[in-house]
Amino acid sequence: MAKLMKIRKAIILAGGSGTRLRPLTLATNKHLLPLYDKPVIYHAIEKLVEAGISRIMVVTSPDHIDSFVRTLGSGQHWKPRNTDESQIQIAYGIQNEPGGIAQGLYIARDYVGDEPCILFLGDNYFEDDLSAHIRDFTEGAMVFLKKVPDPHRFGIATLGKEGEVLSIEEKPKKPKSDLAVAGIYLYDNTVFEKMRDQKPSARGEYEITYVNNKYIKEGKLRATHLKKKWSDIGTIDSLIDVSHHIKKKHDRHKK
Ligand code: G1P
Repeated sequence: MAKLMKIRKAIILAGGSGTRLRPLTLATNKHLLPLYDKPVIYHAIEKLVEAGISRIMVVTSPDHIDSFVRTLGSGQHWKPRNTDESQIQIAYGIQNEPGGIAQGLYIARDYVGDEPCILFLGDNYFEDDLSAHIRDFTEGAMVFLKKVPDPHRFGIATLGKEGEVLSIEEKPKKPKSDLAVAGIYLYDNTVFEKMRDQKPSARGEYEITYVNNKYIKEGKLRATHLKKKWSDIGTIDSLIDVSHHIKKKHDRHKK
């Protein structure tokens, strides 16, 4: 049996200029906008805490780092769950230019050290519980897939007969499937060396899809399907849709 690797740390990427959400994002960062009753990024932190993660680095741009520190502090708003650690500790990393997801993760390499980690795109809202995947993690990487109506907007996975991922294409013009790769990734510590020869893509970004394809070539990328709601909060419609969804959940609980 493959050796279990204990994941303690997560990196939340919360940079970007949020152009599609202007003018809402002129004075603030999209991850600080309200998703019903809490800032968008609270959701990411709650999902990670629920899954036993106690060490989180938030990587964001210099423009808004102070607002993140005011909103999240050192992690004192959250109590550790499903872990022996006594505190949630939030650290901060700065991404000077929006250079892509792989670049954002690379900024956290010293923080991650020689441990495995979770990469979480802070604008992703989802409801599946990550605990079992984190507990059972072994070497390699894991991605989470979800069917979408608009595959040209995402990293899209092509699966083989056994459900294995054959390739991932970033924002394909002619998508080969409708299975999007969600913005939550589990990585062993080889993730950083996989970025060594990476060049920026046509849109000028260090793509995480490049890194995932390296894992595929080594036969070390596992995929699992998200069963519950998943959405990325990139547009005003998704912000409103997810806010309504959360309100309905709250209202059901009140009854
Ligand atoms: C990024 C990734 C893409 C992934 C998506 C999930 O896209 O590059 O592979 O499917 O997040 O939210 P971006 O947000 O940079 O457009």
